[in-house]
Amino acid sequence: MKEDRGHFASKLGVVLASAGSAVGLGNIWRFPTETGKNGGAAFILIYLIFVLFLALPVMVSEFVVGRHSRANTVEAYRKLAPGTPWFVVGIIGVLSGFLVLSFYSVVAGWTLDYTFLSITGALSGSHDFGEVFNCFVTHPYRPLLFLLMFLFITHVIVARGVESGIEKFSKMMMPLLLFIIILLVVLSVTMPGAGEGLTFLLQPDFGKVTPKVVFSAMGQAFFSLSVGIGCLVTYSSYFNKQTRLVSSAMNVCLIDTMVAILAGFIIFPTVFSVGVQPDAGPGLVFVTLPNVFNMAFKDAMWLGDIFSILFYLLLLLAAITSSISMHEISTAYIREHFHVSRRRATWIVTACCIVLGVCCSLSFGPWRDVLIFGMGFFDLFDFLTAKFFMPLGGIGICLFVGWKMKKRDVYDELSNWGLHSVPLYGVLMFFIRFVAPACITLVFLNELLGIGGS
Ligand code: PHE
Repeated sequence: MKEDRGHFASKLGVVLASAGSAVGLGNIWRFPTETGKNGGAAFILIYLIFVLFLALPVMVSEFVVGRHSRANTVEAYRKLAPGTPWFVVGIIGVLSGFLVLSFYSVVAGWTLDYTFLSITGALSGSHDFGEVFNCFVTHPYRPLLFLLMFLFITHVIVARGVESGIEKFSKMMMPLLLFIIILLVVLSVTMPGAGEGLTFLLQPDFGKVTPKVVFSAMGQAFFSLSVGIGCLVTYSSYFNKQTRLVSSAMNVCLIDTMVAILAGFIIFPTVFSVGVQPDAGPGLVFVTLPNVFNMAFKDAMWLGDIFSILFYLLLLLAAITSSISMHEISTAYIREHFHVSRRRATWIVTACCIVLGVCCSLSFGPWRDVLIFGMGFFDLFDFLTAKFFMPLGGIGICLFVGWKMKKRDVYDELSNWGLHSVPLYGVLMFFIRFVAPACITLVFLNELLGIGGS
């Protein structure tokens, strides 16, 4: 029997599932890490410009391709441009989906462990949290265990399908997530010495802007919004006819950006308050925050424990709503291309991600010295996807919608078949056809040629 492809049942479901995909470790873990490494406010400003001018047009283009084709990201190009090589854009997306999910699950696994640690109270009391984190990630099998657990949770939700798995979970979790974030911001900005962190976040120093900073900001914008690898092509293939593509994309960008900035307001005031270096790298969130909770609640440890549980739970939930969307890129493709059941497709993707994820996880410990192009598996997968495949995929998707698809079809999708007008249609198309592809190419060239030195 042929399985139904599935669809999102409500308008809110559409926005929350897409925002659930966008909001994740990218906002709460990767954004502060990258901001810390790239000098603070100036990086954030460039990031915001890229979100608006590059990632948003790519997102709208993905929505157009997905809903118009109602197919997975490879099939979408095959359907809309049969007999042409455009489907390669989709293939790169599916492969990237595996890579992203693999390294992402490693960090999500750490988060799961820290959630347990905070529930058992093991994170309260004074410790050297840098040491605690290092011991954990370099441990031969403990991170692997949590990696497996996380992938299993993702697997179960994806296996349940679009409406009762993905949509239901996102709808429940996203509001809870926003609530926890706001609570933590209030706690963080009221810490002693928080002012220095606020300056770091709000006062741009353009002397720190190098091609590498610009390149990283572009990677972060694509990663954070889940664009460029067909994730949102896949999700939008489940949208219904009433969904307004441009306003949904704007809502998703807005929610995602808000969460990232709020995460900055949680992390940096506390980083400076505790005296940790802001460029501490991937461990930033795992080293500074336990410190913070302990310091802030010296006299009421139980309250510190509660905040700690809330934070890691928040990170975990955000990670799950994103990991299911990465999983779905490849699951939808395998299911529809090889005509297998959703269950079987889900298992195939999970099994591959376990293998790749284990490689990434071991690259912090026993495989520390296994380097490819000077990077371990984790760093390599992060670099390849966020800084390479996603922006390149973004160029592909924009060129496809801007130059290959029929103008009429694009307009129909954006206006819901003439049901409403599309404000700034001309400007949007100009960005999709010219600005986004040209700017992404320029940022690449700028980085490759190292203009200005980095
Ligand atoms: N946008 C997600 C985050 O911020 C990560 C992601 C990347 C999700 C690519 C799907 C596809 O965490």
